[in-house]
Amino acid sequence: MKALVLAGGSGTRLRPITHTSAKQLVPVANKPVLFYGLEAIAEAGITDVGIIVGRTAPEIRAAVADGSALGLTVTYLPQEAPLGLAHAVLTAQDFLGDDDFVMYLGDNLILDGIAPLVDKFRTDRPDADILLTRVANPQAFGVAELDETGRVVGLAEKPTSPKSDLALVGVYLFTPAIHAAVRAITPSARGELEITDAIRWLIDHGFTVRPTTITGYWKDAGNVADMLEVNRWVLEQTKPAVHGTVHADCELTGPVRIEPGAEVRGSRIMGPAVIGAGTRIHRSRIGPFTSIADHVTVEDSDIEYSIVLAGSSITGVRHIEASLIGRNVKITPTAPRPTAAHRLILGDHSEVQIPS
Ligand code: DAU
Repeated sequence: MKALVLAGGSGTRLRPITHTSAKQLVPVANKPVLFYGLEAIAEAGITDVGIIVGRTAPEIRAAVADGSALGLTVTYLPQEAPLGLAHAVLTAQDFLGDDDFVMYLGDNLILDGIAPLVDKFRTDRPDADILLTRVANPQAFGVAELDETGRVVGLAEKPTSPKSDLALVGVYLFTPAIHAAVRAITPSARGELEITDAIRWLIDHGFTVRPTTITGYWKDAGNVADMLEVNRWVLEQTKPAVHGTVHADCELTGPVRIEPGAEVRGSRIMGPAVIGAGTRIHRSRIGPFTSIADHVTVEDSDIEYSIVLAGSSITGVRHIEASLIGRNVKITPTAPRPTAAHRLILGDHSEVQIPS
């Protein structure tokens, strides 16, 4: 069995962060979201992985390399343009050959992994297995309709009037039957070859499509609000560890991980939180639910429920929350100090001045 991981696409919903970088590489608890999927694939005993890449191919290649660090053998599959999830399967046709495969969307995160799902698929081998979960906003997803016996009778991509609240999770298990389906369908109204349409084609042509409803934690980290939620959830599993230097004038509460070379002075870190390697936190309050990446400087500032990417510096800002701050961002104060909260969604290399 192989895996097909989708790490192309345009990531418009995470702009400006994804103007310059791949959305699948935005870190969750200081690890790119894509790596959670690759680890889940390795854990399911699959080693042969094709990664669909687009405009951000160089970055994805730089991060994942040949996959050996994760126990995988990775083949990169350039997609000419983000023409849809079924188009990605078409692109991967030669790589996939006659093998069964798991297709994993690179911005999805299933915290319980996929090993039991893959095992069950290997045993029963339906033509396709789709994962479903109940969501509050089905309009934003592919939506499945089941009959009273639990069979899939309808599938629609981002319907305006959803027939159920069962969303398609971005992990699909396929036999080679899917190849005829992706060749047969035509582009949707948004101009993409939809995997949802290909699966509906399988149903319409008498193939077995088994729905598996999952209840474990799943998120499509496709927008900022979801990204922060995913980060919160992953951080809740953080094992406390201090590898850096925490001076005696600091207070650490809850699960906090401090990476090597980090230095915390005169500060309070409220877990769950992670502080990246080489990062300096001085006279500040961090957390809860906050990930600060490597080589960041935070001085005289408070940050909660946020993600700060590598190389940024934040000085003299007393209330940052629900924020996603890109790489090499510089935030400096102007007098006088603020009293109101700031909510910031800043792209890489931004520079912002806030009254202080
Ligand atoms: O997250 C689950 C949802 O994923 C499903 O409920 C939907 O049925 C499914 O269509 C998909 O919807 P999204 O709108 O979230 O897909 P998105 O365009 O964000 O693409 C998902 C991933 O695949 C993302 O990492 C980018 C990558 N991709 C996307 C396209 C369209 C590619 O590699 N190539 C592509 O052509």
